[in-house]
Amino acid sequence: MDNRPIGVFDSGLGGLTAVKPLHRILPHENIIYFGDTGRVPYGSRGADVIRQYAEQDARFLLSHDVKFVLAACGTVSTVATHLADLLPVPYANVLQPTALAAVRATKNRRIGVIGTAATIRSGAFEREIHRIDPTMQVTSQACPLFVPLVESGFIDPNDSVPIEVARRYLAPILAQGVDTLILGCTHYPILKRIIGPLVGDDVILIDSGRESARHCAALLAKNGLLSDRETEGEERFFVSDRTDDFTSVAGIFLGNEATSLEAELVQIEDY
Ligand code: DGL
Repeated sequence: MDNRPIGVFDSGLGGLTAVKPLHRILPHENIIYFGDTGRVPYGSRGADVIRQYAEQDARFLLSHDVKFVLAACGTVSTVATHLADLLPVPYANVLQPTALAAVRATKNRRIGVIGTAATIRSGAFEREIHRIDPTMQVTSQACPLFVPLVESGFIDPNDSVPIEVARRYLAPILAQGVDTLILGCTHYPILKRIIGPLVGDDVILIDSGRESARHCAALLAKNGLLSDRETEGEERFFVSDRTDDFTSVAGIFLGNEATSLEAELVQIEDY
C-alpha cells in the first residue's frame, strides 16, 4: 500500500493519452504529470540530448516523492533505455507493453512500427519484438510530420492534408502486408481516424498510451504499490513553458476534460 503519487512524463502533452486510461483504470491514484513543453519535440533530436532531458524529467518527478515513474513518450522509451537503472523507484515505459501487445495481436507475424525519427533510428521496437519472438517480421517507418500536424490541429479525418501525408508514410508498411501496426508515439492515436481507414479494418492498431497505462497499473499491483485511498485521486500538471497554452493543447489529447485543468511552470534545467 502506497499513497504517494504516480509520476508520468512526456516530451510534451501527448503523454496525456496515457494519463487518461491510467486514471480510468486506477481512479484513486494521485498522478503528477510533467510535459516538457519548452523543449518538445524530442523526436528530432540526437540520443545524448534525449537521454539528458529524460533524466531531468525523471528527477523533477522524484522531487515530488513519486512511487513510480512512467515515461509515456515513445522517443524517451526507445532512446533513454538507461533510465530503469538510474531510478530509485520502479519505472515503466511504452516499449515493452506495446511490443508485447503487438506480438500477441498479430496473426500473420508481420508487424509495422511507426514513430518519431529518433524512435525508428533506435531500432528499439524491432529488438524488443524479436526478443519476444525472433520469427516476427518487422517493418518500421519514421513519420516526422505527424507530431506537428497533430499539434497544429490537422486531425480532421476528411482533411486531405493529413490523409496524403499518412498515405505516403504508410505505403511501405502496407506493401509488406502487416496485420498489426504499432502507433509508437504519443501523438499518433489522435490520428487513428485517418490512419485506420488507410490501413483498413484488417490491420490492428496498437496504442502505446493505453498499453503503457495498463502495464503501469499491473506493475503497481504486483509491487504492492497501489493506494488505499477511497476518494478520487488528484492530478497535478507541470510544464516547462507556455502555461497559458496548456488547456488548448491538452484539449487535443483529452477533449473537453481539459477545459478545467491548469498547469504549473517548472524550470526543468534546474533538475
Ligand atoms: N512524445 C513524443 C513521442 O512519443 C512525440 C513528440 C516529440 O517528438 O517529442 O515520441
